[in-house]
Amino acid sequence: MTKIDAKPVRVSQTTITELMIPAYANFGGKIHGGTLLSMMDKVAYATASKHAGSYCVTVSVDKVEFLQPVEVGELVSMHASVNYVGNSSLVVGIRVEAQNVKLGTIKHTNSSYFTMVAKGDNDKPMQVPKLILENDEDVKRFIEAMRMKEIKSSVNEKMHDAKSRIEVDNARELLKNERCQIKIRL
Ligand SMILES: CC(C)(COP(=O)(O)OP(=O)(O)OC[C@H]1O[C@@H](n2cnc3c(N)ncnc32)[C@H](O)[C@@H]1OP(=O)(O)O)[C@@H](O)C(=O)NCCC(=O)NCCS
Repeated sequence: MTKIDAKPVRVSQTTITELMIPAYANFGGKIHGGTLLSMMDKVAYATASKHAGSYCVTVSVDKVEFLQPVEVGELVSMHASVNYVGNSSLVVGIRVEAQNVKLGTIKHTNSSYFTMVAKGDNDKPMQVPKLILENDEDVKRFIEAMRMKEIKSSVNEKMHDAKSRIEVDNARELLKNERCQIKIRL
């Protein structure tokens, strides 16, 4: 079998739609965030593995902010595309929408980004096909993902540095305006 060198974005684009049943609801009657995350992970896998032509694993998830609640009875659709490929990694962008068929409304609940890595039969990361960008939207998303990757790497470095410099001795001063109480139990 010949190895495919490059694939267009459209070939792996995937949409899944599911009815939100009462079993998915929390005590407040809205859909659990975890139910939506599980659906997002599945559509990210489907999209990434179609592009990679192999098994893929989820490495990280960015920008999960539920902007509006999802109700029981709504139809949730997740539209996913490969936005970016590295060597073995792929960034899948997912737009989540909830449709109320009776009212004829569609609300955008969140857009999130899953980084997936393709794995070979030896369970090691394997190279994925290049991405063919066929329109301005494809190009825009690729550049956006590239920039987000750079920003994430610099934020991670800063977080690591900030964590290593936390001194508990200075905590009383640092936390004096925060809503916490320090009562160390010896
Ligand atoms: C992700 C994983 C494959 C990385 O393995 P590794 O031996 O460190 O491999 P590499 O350093 O070669 O990294 C492979 C790719 O992952 C990317 N990667 C690694 N860690 C990452 C992170 N935290 N965020 C984003 N990308 C990451 C690398 O940038 C690299 O991308 P590239 O090939 O496009 O340049 C490995 O840590 C793993 O298998 N994790 C478990 C994933 C899993 O099982 N998920 C399911 C939920 S439990």
